[in-house]
Amino acid sequence: MGKKLYIETLGCAMNVRDSEHIIAELNKREPYDLTENLSEADLIIINTCSVREKPVSKLFSEIGIFRKYKKPSAKIGVAGCTASHLGREIIDRAPIVDFVIGARNVSKLSKVMDKRHAVEIDIDYDDSTYQFGEYRANRFKAMVNISVGCDKSCTYCIVPATRGDEISIPKDIIIREVKRAVESGAKEVILLGQNVNNYGKHFTAPDEPSINFTQLLREVSRVDGVERIRFTSPHPLHMDNEFLEEFAYNPKICKQIHIPLQSGSTKVLREMKRGYSKEWFLDRCEKVRELVPDVAISTDIIVGFPAESDKDFQDTMDVLERVKFEQIFSFKYSPRPHTKASSFPNQVPDEIASARLTSLQKRHREILDNIQKRELGRVHKVYFDELKANGRVSGRTDSGKLVTVMGSEELLGKICDVEIIKTSLYSLEGKAV
Ligand code: SAH
Ligand code: SF4
Ligand code: F3S
Repeated sequence: MGKKLYIETLGCAMNVRDSEHIIAELNKREPYDLTENLSEADLIIINTCSVREKPVSKLFSEIGIFRKYKKPSAKIGVAGCTASHLGREIIDRAPIVDFVIGARNVSKLSKVMDKRHAVEIDIDYDDSTYQFGEYRANRFKAMVNISVGCDKSCTYCIVPATRGDEISIPKDIIIREVKRAVESGAKEVILLGQNVNNYGKHFTAPDEPSINFTQLLREVSRVDGVERIRFTSPHPLHMDNEFLEEFAYNPKICKQIHIPLQSGSTKVLREMKRGYSKEWFLDRCEKVRELVPDVAISTDIIVGFPAESDKDFQDTMDVLERVKFEQIFSFKYSPRPHTKASSFPNQVPDEIASARLTSLQKRHREILDNIQKRELGRVHKVYFDELKANGRVSGRTDSGKLVTVMGSEELLGKICDVEIIKTSLYSLEGKAV
């Protein structure tokens, strides 16, 4: 019998892709079957997130659960951003953990597995040209990293301290990976990086040909078999007209864009060191809508950043009102180690931050309700990529909306016209036409 791996992934899309890399790297050593049953696993890996305090506490509560249910011989590994930021402290607090491997060190997995209590968390480590093994949880859509790390220093954010400086992955490696994904059945690729539209600014090799994100998008769209391209996240600061025009006019690029706002107040944005103003953000959203009237815009919002006043928060509500985001990922500000904002004065009391978050999310649900209701009777091209329970299949519209229809495996990997027959806040039901 082969060995079994239980892997739990917290955090963002980059972590989801890192978990695929972890699985691929393990399989280079010896084959592992995935299991969802903790008690039969030979190896348990938790791929952690550090972006807020909550997912960090989750790590230690999960380790407690692993301890309780695991086989005595099973090993535990901690990967990801909390591994990068806490390092050996994880083993000091929980000696049951066998190894710790940082978010930027996945290619060293084999090394840490051979030595008990090994810790590899070097955030300067450069694996931007490393060839990971091939593993994808879903063969119909492929995440492809285009850069590692982040070159910004937003004052609230721990990511530069967990993933290190930004390095772009050479174009040839990206294109090779896209081709391989297409050969195994993917029609959709999702390009990943902390600031995808900053692509091409920093390469390891000094003679890497010059290229920017807009040009990369063109190159990816020229790969035979790629029918849909998504990317996350672009930074509002780097959204120039050339990029937005490529987004609008390249038919392979899905008309869904995540534009992280963080705050609608120019004063708070300055304190956050985001590099843009409320007006710039609104102008970029208007420009996208002018070019693509049906575009779906999603965003990230932080409420309760230090010294955020009621008026600042009203600016955030104002942007919400004007842009009418399809989706928001909104959180209370969480002070993080290694960040400037954690020592800013005037931290906002939790009750105030909670009340702001509640009113923001309530208003957004109303906006979304209107957006979703308008979908009734519309026909969309849906790319089916997942089998669901009860004879259903799900997929996404070009604009990224989740649609479920009655159907079987035959629909998987196909793009079909679907009429929307029922709407709810977070998904749509359709029938093939
Ligand atoms: N590179 C991306 C974001 C990566 S982190 C960008 O610039 O938009 C994902 C999201 O987590 C951020 O957009 C932000 O909204 C949120 N986040 C980051 N640090 C946070 C903190 N200290 N407290 C609350 N939310 C935070
Ligand atoms: Fe964090 Fe800012 Fe970098 Fe995004 S751009 S990962 S929010 S530092
Ligand atoms: Fe992602 Fe969390 Fe790290 S959001 S980059 S896994 S801190």
